[in-house]
Amino acid sequence: CSSEPPSSDGGDGAEGGGDELISVGFSQVGAESGWRSANTMSIKDALTEENGFELSFSDAQQKQENQISAIRNYIAQGVDVIAFSPVVETGWDAVLEEAKGAGIPVVLTDRAVETTVEDAYVSFIGSDFVEEGARSGEWAVEQYDGEGYKVVELQGTTGSAPAIDRQQGFADAIEGSDLEVIDSQTGDFTRDGGKKVMEGFLTAHDDIDLVFAHNDDMGLGAVEAIEAAGMTPGEDIKIITIDGVKDGMAALAEGKFNYIVECNPLLGPDLAEVIQKTVAGEDVEERIVTQDEAFDQEGAKEALPDRQY
Ligand code: AHR
Repeated sequence: CSSEPPSSDGGDGAEGGGDELISVGFSQVGAESGWRSANTMSIKDALTEENGFELSFSDAQQKQENQISAIRNYIAQGVDVIAFSPVVETGWDAVLEEAKGAGIPVVLTDRAVETTVEDAYVSFIGSDFVEEGARSGEWAVEQYDGEGYKVVELQGTTGSAPAIDRQQGFADAIEGSDLEVIDSQTGDFTRDGGKKVMEGFLTAHDDIDLVFAHNDDMGLGAVEAIEAAGMTPGEDIKIITIDGVKDGMAALAEGKFNYIVECNPLLGPDLAEVIQKTVAGEDVEERIVTQDEAFDQEGAKEALPDRQY
């Protein structure tokens, strides 16, 4: 642990107490979406000096190589704990082995990794993305009954856990139904990416019934593209998204989206607890699944005034 003593609860430093700050290196995916901004804020709010942490935070701008070099820097600095939200699922074995070799515990937040390294991380905190895709697909199946309905899919970042899992969950849920995914491309979880890909879908297909967007931001980009093409989002073309950030919930309340499956970004408090327990040598849960809700248009109208992010 680093040597700076934390101020005790009152914060006037009078008592001392001998506790030391826990140094944490956190490598974030980027700032690609409203969800990500809320997630970053939650982590920074939880890992404060007042709470006993010394946080080094880095933004990888959606690039795995940036995350790997940030993690190597944290290893070189000898932080107490490394936490990161991996941009993509694979390609982490070498750096995870290095962290393990240095005796630095790793905590994953938000996204999973696929690794052959044994005991590569102490805990993985985040949503069940397969379930999010499945809930989106189940809702879609309930809405459509009859002839073949055409779905286009705006995928998240290629190779990322949420893109892989949400696609899988949705595909499984609509299998054997009246819905068919006729096109699926990545919009990289950004509003601009969603808009561009949707423009391409609208040029290539004149019979789209439904958009399944892997996050709110891409769905909001799709809204822009649909409106620019002279159609009404939410009516001419229905839209399902995942996240439930304020802008997405506002679009749902306004009738431009039709359904949102929430992905809770407020992972900071769980991360803080896992780190504290790990440093104290206590057992932690290997998998902490965040609880998510789902909203239709009426639900969004009710929830919007109290939405934190
Ligand atoms: O990994 C979580 C996903 O990443 C969110 O759904 C998306 O908005 C973000 O960019």
